[in-house]
Amino acid sequence: MADASNIESDLALARKVLDSHFGDAPKIGLVLGSGLSDLVDFFEGAKEVSYSELPGFIPSTVEGHKGTLVAGNLGGVPVVAMAGRNHLYEGHSAAAVVFPIRALIHWGIDSVVITNAAGGISSNLAEGDLMLISDHLNLTGRNPLVGENVDSLGPRFPDMSFAYDPELRKKAKEIGTKGGLDLKEGVYASNLGPSYETPAEVEMIDRMGADAVGMSTVLEVIAARHAGARVLGLSCITNLAAGKSKNVLSHDDVKDVANRVKGRMQHLVTEFVKAI
Ligand code: HPA
Repeated sequence: MADASNIESDLALARKVLDSHFGDAPKIGLVLGSGLSDLVDFFEGAKEVSYSELPGFIPSTVEGHKGTLVAGNLGGVPVVAMAGRNHLYEGHSAAAVVFPIRALIHWGIDSVVITNAAGGISSNLAEGDLMLISDHLNLTGRNPLVGENVDSLGPRFPDMSFAYDPELRKKAKEIGTKGGLDLKEGVYASNLGPSYETPAEVEMIDRMGADAVGMSTVLEVIAARHAGARVLGLSCITNLAAGKSKNVLSHDDVKDVANRVKGRMQHLVTEFVKAI
């Protein structure tokens, strides 16, 4: 599945199945990264379907990534959330990684909040901070749009000047200020993973202009912008990147910190979906 030749029929099938499970699409989608899936506990009237029941969605192999699609109301607003995502480092193609986001957009969402766990590089970021993504560096060496363009999805050469929607960021910042969330803002770089960076790599990425580093998000954002959806990107700074602290990095610590931050994340995302 998910090669250019049959992407349209794959998306049509996914849409049919989404319709049959959930009915009409909401306008807002959420992608919940490592340790952030618990946000769905706050949905009212939640309906949950495992990725294994959705064509083109791949069950997650990563601990902390649930692998279910959950629709419900958040703060009274209909939303759908991917509780867990697929990554290149699991061995999937770029096209497979972005299939779910494409399917949700094809189903009917027009805005998406994409979250992740990330290592802080900039000296103004601390463990536990929330960072609005202002822009990204795609260091994965992959792009989901490689191959024949599917014109019905979007243009051959989509513009990425405003990949992270300025208006949505402004709304999120207002909510952050009002709620005393001390929201940071910066550039997110994605590596292929799954090994964390070496300190030398972090130094390089720092000089390239990134504030935080992770292993996801950028491909989803490219696919979403290609398809014309608006994106808000949000990183949970779960650790300082390699070499920026004396600590050794572990996925358990990443999940623990994400877990500690989830109250603020929930407040921000709930107020945000109410505001747009
Ligand atoms: N590097 C890459 N990915 C990550 C990190 C990191 O330091 N923290 C959480 N995801």
